[in-house]
Amino acid sequence: MNLLSSREIRLERRPVGSPVLEDFSLHTVEVPAPAEGLVRVRNLWMSVDPYMGGRLYDNHDSYVPPYRLNHPLDGGAVGVVVDSADSQFKPGDIVFSQYGWREIYNAPAKRLRRIDTDGLPPEAFLGIAGVTGRTAYVGLFSIGQIKAGETVYVSAAAGAVGSAAVQMAKIAGCTVIGSAGGKEKCDYLRSIGADHVIDYKSEDLEAALKAAAPEGIDFYFDNVGGPQLEAALNAMKTFGRIALCGMISQYNESGVSGPGNIVQILAKRLTVRGFILGDHEDERPAFERDVRDWIKSGQLKWQQTVEHGIANAPAAFLKLFKGGNIGKMVVKLSD
Ligand SMILES: NC(=O)c1ccc[n+]([C@@H]2O[C@H](COP(=O)([O-])OP(=O)(O)OC[C@H]3O[C@@H](n4cnc5c(N)ncnc54)[C@H](OP(=O)(O)O)[C@@H]3O)[C@@H](O)[C@H]2O)c1
Repeated sequence: MNLLSSREIRLERRPVGSPVLEDFSLHTVEVPAPAEGLVRVRNLWMSVDPYMGGRLYDNHDSYVPPYRLNHPLDGGAVGVVVDSADSQFKPGDIVFSQYGWREIYNAPAKRLRRIDTDGLPPEAFLGIAGVTGRTAYVGLFSIGQIKAGETVYVSAAAGAVGSAAVQMAKIAGCTVIGSAGGKEKCDYLRSIGADHVIDYKSEDLEAALKAAAPEGIDFYFDNVGGPQLEAALNAMKTFGRIALCGMISQYNESGVSGPGNIVQILAKRLTVRGFILGDHEDERPAFERDVRDWIKSGQLKWQQTVEHGIANAPAAFLKLFKGGNIGKMVVKLSD
């Protein structure tokens, strides 16, 4: 049977309030050699992402269906093919899949995407060269239509999407304001070129935004929602634009808040548009070309926060909601 032992994380129970480690459980399963049409993959890296927070609940307003109890969770992962019973893949191929939260799996070939790493480390395809980089790209250029000379504000700016958005807006010739929690993150934002940096945990965000952009903000890239969206609405220019990329402050069922000043959208004639990356597959080739050029030219840098081993994946995930990451949070599963 050539079984390979694999560990996986399951959702043990639905969280009450904010999720805790006890909501997750670790299990060992045996993965057989792949049947015809299947490919057996050993994951190298897996992603933990804020949107997974909404999937832990069965009645939360998430744009992705809830996770099932007592089933392995899923999410982005990069792995290496170990056996293949499909002619499209061979051992050694590096593949992206949604079979995260587990060490080894069998999957139909059509659920895998081969990655041409082109000299980048495989985990970059979970971050800057993958979903998070592409989210920043689509949010700024397709949704935001940013132009050189504009003032752009990015929240959760030291995170994966945020740090990519800060740098891409700089590449586009914008003045960039980034907000993040704590000195280390603010120092990091300066190091990647943000023109104005706000520690929203120790400063009055609205006053700091007005000081950084006395004429107002042209475009706000919102990763947070809640109080930060409220402060941004007050600091926007008339006819400004806002892309609602994410609302991490609202994903856990521990309280939903604001904004209470939604009237500003009317008064300032703002354009506010939510977007989901999955609707923008057609922009992938342009992103892949630009991101590789920018990385090669040194214009785009990336940072990651690494946790080790499948058993630590839930802890890595929970850290996202406590600000425990700079750049992309990833879990290393295998060498
Ligand atoms: N629309 C799409 O298709 C799409 C795709 C990917 C991601 N997203 C969204 O993009 C956003 C960023 O995702 P990411 O993967 O790059 O995560 P991330 O920014 O790397 O990590 C989350 C960060 O959010 C901040 N945060 C957590 N709770 C907060 C709160 N209550 N208030 C304010 N800030 C808080 C923390 O930074 P601080 O220490 O600075 O607080 C934390 O480090 C998320 O909202 C995510 O859902 C959307």
